[in-house]
Amino acid sequence: MSEPIRASDTPYAIAVESGKSYFWCACGKSSSQPFCDGSHKGTDFTPVKYEATESKKAFFCGCKATKSQPMCDGSHKD
Ligand code: FES
Ligand code: FES
Repeated sequence: MSEPIRASDTPYAIAVESGKSYFWCACGKSSSQPFCDGSHKGTDFTPVKYEATESKKAFFCGCKATKSQPMCDGSHKD
């Protein structure tokens, strides 16, 4: 398994909508962070689906090192 690209040093704060699904970029290559734009083709990575159960601000991992994908778990500080 290759290493993901660190897209950002901090999480992305996104206003998610209840009932909607989001596909988080795991590889770090997407141009529309934090979401997948298909750029992972040819890599070992696939996007991670997130289903919003409520409308709120969600913090998606930008560093791609989180251990609780797709959300930031503070690992970007390491
Ligand atoms: Fe990164 Fe799809 S572009 S997982
Ligand atoms: Fe990746 Fe916080 S941005 S763990």
